[in-house]
Amino acid sequence: MKTFLPGETPQPKFHELMLSAVAPRPIAFVSTVDKNGQPNLSPFSFFNVFGSNPPICVFSPARSGRTGQTKNTFDNVMEVKECVVNIVNEDMLYQMNLASGEYPKGVNEFVKAGFTMLASDFVSPPRVAESFAQLECKVLNVIETGTGGGAGNLIICEIVCLHFNENVLDDNNSVDPVKMKYIARMGKDFYCRADASNIFEVAKPKANSNLGIGFDALPNFILTSKILTGNDLAQLASVHEIPALSREENSAFKKDNAHQAAQQLIQQGNLVDAWKILLASQQ
Ligand SMILES: Cc1cc2nc3c(=O)[nH]c(=O)nc-3n(C[C@H](O)[C@H](O)[C@H](O)COP(=O)(O)O)c2cc1C
Repeated sequence: MKTFLPGETPQPKFHELMLSAVAPRPIAFVSTVDKNGQPNLSPFSFFNVFGSNPPICVFSPARSGRTGQTKNTFDNVMEVKECVVNIVNEDMLYQMNLASGEYPKGVNEFVKAGFTMLASDFVSPPRVAESFAQLECKVLNVIETGTGGGAGNLIICEIVCLHFNENVLDDNNSVDPVKMKYIARMGKDFYCRADASNIFEVAKPKANSNLGIGFDALPNFILTSKILTGNDLAQLASVHEIPALSREENSAFKKDNAHQAAQQLIQQGNLVDAWKILLASQQ
């Protein structure tokens, strides 16, 4: 491993490495207004949600790494403690990038980047009509983590209203992740998209009494397999108990390449038969 310490690494390099480590990040496209009601719209990938009761999201318009100046978004939320976090989809990417230009305070990036202003229900900043999910927020607290260039400003918001485009919802108001066309920010100028080719589901571990047996309960011949990966072992270790292999099943489950065969079954989600093939290989 190569190690980097903040004090010994030039700040811009540490910034670049940090953002390449913590990725991909969702993008908050934040609309605010100044005390005269003039809108501003800018993207921030220092962003996430931190609880749902009350519903909280936090983003950080940091001080400019070059000038140390605060950003217009920060200045606006100090004047009017409201904002809308609009979630960016792939169709908005290049317009969002255009809006991230350092336009002077008072310039409306809705206009500059060709987005449509949609009146909010509970706050004064307008929403981005093109966004599929819009979070109307009241600013609860602002934490400045420093005063030098690159210092963060945590804008802690309570989400007072959540809007979704009807097209991404099914009849149960469940969101279709493919239709959201999510994009996310990585290090440097890299982005990634979540589309049908790379979205997948992983079931949560079962609660309490149905917990998986864990790696420490795996037999040694499985734990030391040269074929099975960490992901394979974790799925075998997610069963509540090791399946029993009956005497009759023993010959049916005996295979020449037991670990490869078990791996295929694991990939198909058939953990019981994967276990039985592995157990039969030891009889
Ligand atoms: C995808 C993306 C994510 C960004 N994330 C952040 C961020 O989290 N914090 C930040 O200070 N600047 C971030 N920026 C840069 C700001 O958007 C940029 O400095 C912008 O000019 C700020 O606008 P404002 O001064 O109108 O608030 C990001 C830019 C892009 C394109």
